[in-house]
Amino acid sequence: MTSLATAAPPAIPDHVPPDRIVDFDIFQPAGVEEDYFAAWLALQRPGGPDLVWTPRNGGHWIATGGEAVRQLWGDAAALSSEVLAVTPGLGDVMRFIPLQLDPPEHGPYRNAVMRGFASSHIAPLEPQVVALANDLIDGLIGRGTCEFVEEFAEVLPVNLFLTLIGVPTEDRPRLRVFGKQLTRPDGSMTVEELAQAVDDYLWPFLQQRLEMPGDDLFSRILSVPIQGRAWTVDEAKRMCRNLLFGGLDTVAAMLGMVALHLARNPADQARLRAEPDLIPAAADELMRRYPTVSVSRNLVADVAVDGVEMKAGDLVYLPSVLHNLDPRSFDAPQEVRFDRKLNAVKHTTMGAGPHRCVGAGLARMEVIVVMREWLRRLPPFALDPDRPVTMKGGNVGACTAVPLVWQPA
Ligand code: HEM
Repeated sequence: MTSLATAAPPAIPDHVPPDRIVDFDIFQPAGVEEDYFAAWLALQRPGGPDLVWTPRNGGHWIATGGEAVRQLWGDAAALSSEVLAVTPGLGDVMRFIPLQLDPPEHGPYRNAVMRGFASSHIAPLEPQVVALANDLIDGLIGRGTCEFVEEFAEVLPVNLFLTLIGVPTEDRPRLRVFGKQLTRPDGSMTVEELAQAVDDYLWPFLQQRLEMPGDDLFSRILSVPIQGRAWTVDEAKRMCRNLLFGGLDTVAAMLGMVALHLARNPADQARLRAEPDLIPAAADELMRRYPTVSVSRNLVADVAVDGVEMKAGDLVYLPSVLHNLDPRSFDAPQEVRFDRKLNAVKHTTMGAGPHRCVGAGLARMEVIVVMREWLRRLPPFALDPDRPVTMKGGNVGACTAVPLVWQPA
């Protein structure tokens, strides 16, 4: 059985220089409950190394310098995505398509998924996202308070996913349970059980789409042949699982961070209410400033970085936070500047290289819509002084609670 926190300390390989060894648990970096970003930035010091090794979680490298993170993320020749996560066994359970495939095998699947997410399909969804956001806001606005993560950030992506795949809205509570297990596992399900439950839930819809394609996301993707042949059932399940796991907790985490920033910065709220045309640029900058996804790679060739040779077979962890918040990569990276000239592809919130997020356009649209509707409908809101903001670490770091208050109308 695969649990999310594991492993007795392994022997440290001979090629790891002793001065690169740190004691750092990616799931529980010290202080993460209060500040995910500060907990990670503790690894980055002026003049410090760009690559370290931790014996925790089975033993792996961590790229700590911004350029090392970005360079390794793009190196699909020497670094494979097969492992999925440093957590032993997780990759074998998930077998995601396209995420765990390497080029050139990855290409045809990636192409099919990208066609499903083409902007010509995503842009027309905006009114539905607006409606979903407003439904949720209707239920909260009169109360003058909410816990944003539980009551909004974790709900909207589930609802949208069901809309995307054309599943009846009455089914939302069932999928919501999986969404919650994914974002906040309570130990009641193993990863195997969660993957199986998701497959069982999706299978009837998937089977229908394979037999009689409609115009939903799964049908669109599955109608694109893989090197001239149809998708197999196993491949189709792995792709659907990837989309579900890829798009729920990542978006929930980002929405939580955006709400946290706005609640802490009333001047930014006021500016965006007065100048709503700034919201798309503000969303881009907030997505750069609050990156929470980290990825794992297994090396298939030796690679030298920062004077250290990593060997084929090693695992390396690439945290986008240590790229986007490295002052050597971005000017005053912790400042939120809505007029920052961002080359959206340059930061690594959505990854880099051949696996860059296929849902990036959809995620950006969700963030923009939520900011626009939340700022349009609600009066100025703030953090509830009586309830703490809490965060968690992991492959997708996130706020676990963002308690908000406002004056009810
Ligand atoms: C703010 C929200 C999101 C963030 C921060 C995010 C982040 C990422 C990152 C960093 C990667 C690269 C992984 C790697 O290099 O190993 C990725 C890939 C991926 N994402 Fe997202 N993602 C988000 C939303 C979504 C959504 C909404 C979906 C779909 C519903 C999605 C589906 C995927 C898929 C399928 C891949 C794999 C692409 C490939 O392997 O070619 N993501 N995402």
